[in-house]
Amino acid sequence: MSDTVTITDNRTGKQLECPVIQGTYGQPVIDTKLLHKELGMFTLDPGFSTTSSCRSAITYLDGEKGVLMHRGYPIEQLAENSNYLEVCYLLIHGELPSQVQMDEWENAIKMHTMTHEHLSRFYTGYRYDAHPMSIMAGVVSAVASYYHDATDIRNPEHRLMTAKRVIGKMPNLASKCYRFASGLPFVYPHNSLGFVENFMHMTFSRPSEDYEPLPAAIRALELLFILHADHEQNASTSTVRLAGSAESNPFACIAAGIATLWGKAHGGANEAVIQMLEEIGDASKIQKFIDRAKDKNDPFRLMGFGHRVYKNHDPRATIIRQACHELLKELDVNLPMFEVAMELERIALEDDYFIERKLYPNVDFYSGLIYQALKIPSAMFTVMFALARSAGWMAQWMELMEDEDFRIGRPRQLYIGPAKRDYVDISQRS
Ligand code: ACO
Repeated sequence: MSDTVTITDNRTGKQLECPVIQGTYGQPVIDTKLLHKELGMFTLDPGFSTTSSCRSAITYLDGEKGVLMHRGYPIEQLAENSNYLEVCYLLIHGELPSQVQMDEWENAIKMHTMTHEHLSRFYTGYRYDAHPMSIMAGVVSAVASYYHDATDIRNPEHRLMTAKRVIGKMPNLASKCYRFASGLPFVYPHNSLGFVENFMHMTFSRPSEDYEPLPAAIRALELLFILHADHEQNASTSTVRLAGSAESNPFACIAAGIATLWGKAHGGANEAVIQMLEEIGDASKIQKFIDRAKDKNDPFRLMGFGHRVYKNHDPRATIIRQACHELLKELDVNLPMFEVAMELERIALEDDYFIERKLYPNVDFYSGLIYQALKIPSAMFTVMFALARSAGWMAQWMELMEDEDFRIGRPRQLYIGPAKRDYVDISQRS
């Protein structure tokens, strides 16, 4: 059997043999590169449901089986045995580090936890109630203006330096969003602390008292950061790659990713889940919201349900659901919202509408509940997602830069506008 697919243009009888390429796992792909040259046609695939935009060796997910792996390592094993910085190393370098490499990596990231002092002034330019994702998109882009020593995107050392800077500075930049909104002074990082603890220290400590985060809270955030570190060619990652393909500054590419992640169909869903649960209020109102989600005349959707790729279960959601139960038990927190969430999940999973469309709770359904239990304001949820995802964005950007097929990303379109017509002077128009 030949590894090709023949495309026949039934209008002309012309044929094109397209190579079929098989990756390590997953559906084979049809290489349609010659389609335009040979048959004079493009493909139309709104939402890129069946289009592979690149070759990638970083993350694999199987939506039917509920599989997620980074560099071949199952997410369940990473969640149980690894830590966020090690996962960052894995994403960026492709292999798990030796102890020596890990020590060097941790030290290198610590070298980049500070931000330029002048950068702090950017925050005060925002309105007091600005959404922190708008601040993040702005300040991350602004970081580009401080580093003129590593702007050669063709230089692997510059790229690695940028990755270290992005990963090292994100907790600092994110914490300042929270401090600004809360009227609290900015806190410098303390490099004796681990990555997650340092973030908590910069975000939640008060100048007036000692601060020691709960071990359960550190563990929960570490887990959330691991689970959010990368997720293949989703909307924000594809945005980072598209911006990168124009050879843009990498900090600006990350800012573009942040802007995309903000949307409630994507990373903004964790915040939207909490708003939805607050709106539902108590279990007696759940059915009303389920009915609304099923009503085609109502734009409302159950936030935290459904996924473009996962049509069985989101493996991150399975891990996080368990962690959410454990955290609430350990903190002895009684969140009425959690009861509503569990009941909503139960009812939706038994409803034919959700079963037929394979709509399961995704990672965002539970992550918001964990943040809520840790008393983190909901506007910060997506910022923390961005913080964690920055490692994946950088790994994907670095891979793009080394891709032998590197070209500017430039999708085509099917034009459906008016046919050519002649300009009419304004005095002659009806
Ligand atoms: N509630 C109700 N119905 C839904 C939902 C939902 N959350 N999600 C999808 N559907 C329905 C659609 O109306 C559609 O029904 P139809 O076939 O009768 O027309 C069907 O399921 C398929 O939906 P699509 O929109 O085609 O699915 P798509 O893959 O384009 O969208 C998405 C995926 C954006 C995640 C969608 O499920 C959604 O909006 N979910 C809620 C937001 C959310 O939780 N986003 C976070 C995703 S995870 C992440 O980004 C980290």
